[in-house]
Amino acid sequence: MSGGPHHIAVVMDGNGRWATKRFLPRIAGHHQGVKSLRRCVKACADRDVKVLTVFAFSSENWNRPKDEVSGLMDLLALALSREVPDLLADGVRLCFVGDRNSLSVKVQAGLQEAERMTSANTRLTLNVCFNYGGRWDITQAAAQLAARGELITELSLDRAMAMAHVPDPDLMIRTGGEQRISNFLLWQAAYTELFFSDKLWPEFDEQALDEAITTYRQRERRFGKTSAQVDAATPGDSFVT
Ligand code: IPE
Ligand code: IPE
Ligand code: MG
Repeated sequence: MSGGPHHIAVVMDGNGRWATKRFLPRIAGHHQGVKSLRRCVKACADRDVKVLTVFAFSSENWNRPKDEVSGLMDLLALALSREVPDLLADGVRLCFVGDRNSLSVKVQAGLQEAERMTSANTRLTLNVCFNYGGRWDITQAAAQLAARGELITELSLDRAMAMAHVPDPDLMIRTGGEQRISNFLLWQAAYTELFFSDKLWPEFDEQALDEAITTYRQRERRFGKTSAQVDAATPGDSFVT
């Protein structure tokens, strides 16, 4: 049994199926997904989770139909303008993680402004992974080190990653019934506990979150050690990675 989690990562999957089941266009599912994210942010803050990292658009999602991709870009801009005041009031710090270069200049400016406005908040850090891929992150980190002529070590690579501002996730939740990583936090999830939910992301509510957290607390995180070693350690030690 352990406390926490301090950092939860979520693959918010199942928006399209949620909409299709209701004979709605897929984009309606993504809109509902933003509402579900808003609920999840509040719930995490209430449960003392300090970092929430969500997968909103993957490097591979560009391969979707053009209208869905442009709908998701518009939704990002809309969600920014609608949600930032509320997030600000709730003490949430927003960070965008991913390759921004292929986003429109207007969206890039919106992301920067939202980050600037919320930068002093400390209750919860919300990392929104947009145009993100685990392989992209490892590659860009290695490229940075190479350009600076720095030695590649686990520590130097870790520090050059796009997620260097937060500790590794303790728990990764994937909704929508699929049991795969889909190029999410490949480096950072080395010792993350995984939880798969059959609920579609728009249906993932406080109760579902509590189920994931309860399951997490029942896991024994061994980090390569034996169970006996973990049992013998003082309680605080189990959080040291
Ligand atoms: C996840 O929901 C959100 C994004 C990938 C943007 P999906 O759109 O993948 O939903 P399903 O998997 O098709 O139901
Ligand atoms: C993963 O979902 C990406 C996001 C949730 C943003 P996908 O629906 O794109 O994953 P695959 O294609 O089923 O693996
Ligand atoms: Mg999907």
